[in-house]
Amino acid sequence: MSEQLDSPRSQTQEGPLRKISLAIVTALALGASFGLAIADQATKPEDATKAKGKSEEGKAVFQKYKCRSCHSIEALGIAKKELVGEEKTEKKPPDLSGVGLDRKADWFVLFLQKKEKLEDTFHPKKFRGTDTELKKLAAWLETLKEKPAAKKVEEKKEGSGE
Ligand code: HEC
Repeated sequence: MSEQLDSPRSQTQEGPLRKISLAIVTALALGASFGLAIADQATKPEDATKAKGKSEEGKAVFQKYKCRSCHSIEALGIAKKELVGEEKTEKKPPDLSGVGLDRKADWFVLFLQKKEKLEDTFHPKKFRGTDTELKKLAAWLETLKEKPAAKKVEEKKEGSGE
């Protein structure tokens, strides 16, 4: 009888130890996933400011690939800054203040890769950056919805019949 009672007791003595090591393993596992969760959250604040962050990134891509050497964006106070030695194009590069008015990001992606034409001509420059950069740039271009000053003047003239 006493022996029968003994053996369960010895098992219960072993029990806590096993439980402790189990607890440690669980804690470690939890700690690891907690760490991941924290790492995950570290990227979250970026999401919150995604819209703005993205457009700033697009602008940076625009600057990085010297689109400015041909295009101005008056609405954003970006003046054209011709590079020395930049070849002249047949067509005059337009101001991009209002390109987003009738174009979507998808179109910019194709156009800047020379897969889509504008008035029967491809863009003079093929985009040389990464796909991610191109997407950011295209998304940003779509947000440019202000009519360039030149167009406004034209419309005014037409409107007043001059
Ligand atoms: C060498 C000069 C040159 C450079 C550099 C250049 N472009 Fe252009 N771009 C042009 C010309 C010229 C046109 C007009 C093409 C036409 O009308 O067929 C144009 C047209 C465009 C259009 C279409 C405008 C519209 O009216 O719909 C977009 C958008 C554009 N460019 C974006 C860019 C971006 C973004 C970059 C930088 C990655 C860039 N361009 C670099 C010369 C240039």
